[in-house]
Amino acid sequence: MNRDGARPSLWQANRPDYQPSNDWNKETVYDVLIVGGGITGLTTALLLQQEGKKCLVAEAHTLGFGTSGGTTSHLNTLVDATYPTIENNFGKQAAQQVARATAGAIALVESLTKKYQIDAGFSYQSAWLYAQEEQEVSELDEVYEASRRAGLIVEAANSIPVPIPFKKAYQFGGQGQIHASNYLRGLAEAFEKAGGVIVQHCLVQNLKHDDPIRATTTTGDIRARQVVYATHQPPGISIFNFRLAPYRSYATAFTLKDGNYPSGLAYDMKEIYNYFRTQESDGQRYVIAGGFDHKTGHEDNTAHIFSELEAYQRTYFKVDTFAYKWSSQYYESVDGLPYIGSFPGQEGVYVGTGFGGNGVTYGTVTALVLCDMLMGRSSPYEEVFSPARIKPVASFANFVKENADVVSMFIGKRFSYEKITELAELAPGEAKTVKWEGTSLALYKDENSRVYALDPVCPHAKCIVNWNSGEKSWDCPCHGARYAVDGSLLTGPAQTGLTRLEWGELPVS
Ligand code: FES
Repeated sequence: MNRDGARPSLWQANRPDYQPSNDWNKETVYDVLIVGGGITGLTTALLLQQEGKKCLVAEAHTLGFGTSGGTTSHLNTLVDATYPTIENNFGKQAAQQVARATAGAIALVESLTKKYQIDAGFSYQSAWLYAQEEQEVSELDEVYEASRRAGLIVEAANSIPVPIPFKKAYQFGGQGQIHASNYLRGLAEAFEKAGGVIVQHCLVQNLKHDDPIRATTTTGDIRARQVVYATHQPPGISIFNFRLAPYRSYATAFTLKDGNYPSGLAYDMKEIYNYFRTQESDGQRYVIAGGFDHKTGHEDNTAHIFSELEAYQRTYFKVDTFAYKWSSQYYESVDGLPYIGSFPGQEGVYVGTGFGGNGVTYGTVTALVLCDMLMGRSSPYEEVFSPARIKPVASFANFVKENADVVSMFIGKRFSYEKITELAELAPGEAKTVKWEGTSLALYKDENSRVYALDPVCPHAKCIVNWNSGEKSWDCPCHGARYAVDGSLLTGPAQTGLTRLEWGELPVS
């Protein structure tokens, strides 16, 4: 299974790319086109197909290429936006709805694995939230109180399932976990068995709002009556560019010398929190642990973050081997809750995005909510997650503006290969951006000393990309589009890759 980063995640090992069996009939008008072949898109497609809709999933790369291939695959009612925050922003009733919606999502994952016999090791788990500092204790108590009011099953705990000192802890019932790639494959197979169609390597570029909607893609037009974007940021310029911030999250999967694997999920109370859980894959147990998140494109040395993460984990665990180390992308909404529902201003188009660190959970909530809406029923969660809700976006103003005034002077220029190699004084595997004669260049030298030169201006809204040394990609700090070393598009919202430098006889004048 391929993924949008250079480091393999635990979910990719021994998992070949999915090969769809059903053919796409280009003459067919589908009821629903689902854009994005991750857990969100496939769960939505499966529910709709089960209800009799004729669905097509279009994936720009291969199934699970995006965040589903890099998730840590927790299932939580204890979501990242804490219940005191949700109560504060939206009220007590909304907090209860979030608790019910996320519990419903976990129950749906359980029922789908049972119904379709998906061998993905779904299990209900408890989660322990623990405070290590005095000032975290009062915060933890507030989380406990608000979580109880929201309807979570929670009680005080004397111990936690990880060998980390703590001052106070609570145990939350009703959480869960699942093997991400086994689950994804199971969803895809069930969807195809129900008659659904999956088209891979099919980048949806534009929607023409006729009846039916016509989606222009890299492999031909798809006609559908309704469209669901399950791509995190919907492609192109949209209102979501102003309401979502992209983050990179870091994870490891390691084995232990003492076999003392955590018997549940554990989270500390740091703002950028550390988390731990156990996952079995191909007969081997691993601790999945992570943290050290940061805004995409805002860290100079992302490879170094893995060393810090490792050092932190070695402090507490008797690590045998770090088998996998990877990072992945998620999007935070401005007010902490995801946006699920009708795409503002686009009739017949729906979206699920802004899941924060609760991607599998909120992706499944998306499927539940959108299935109801597209089947003409009302969803009890329609209002609380509505993309049309208005919340202040002031805190995002700077980040959206960041770099946005940089104008590319790259187009039309040609450089000699000699000049580029001179500029690219880099060790193999390194990259940098350079300015030369008023032109910015993004340069990367591969392991065979081949130099790639790109225009660093992101085609989405003209921000300048930054090098992600951890995953060997160029990441945009504004809305999180990511590019491979050859400039090809890894993830949107951009719809094209970075411009590659043409070099030849013509020197720069
Ligand atoms: Fe929006 Fe790059 S992703 S400017």
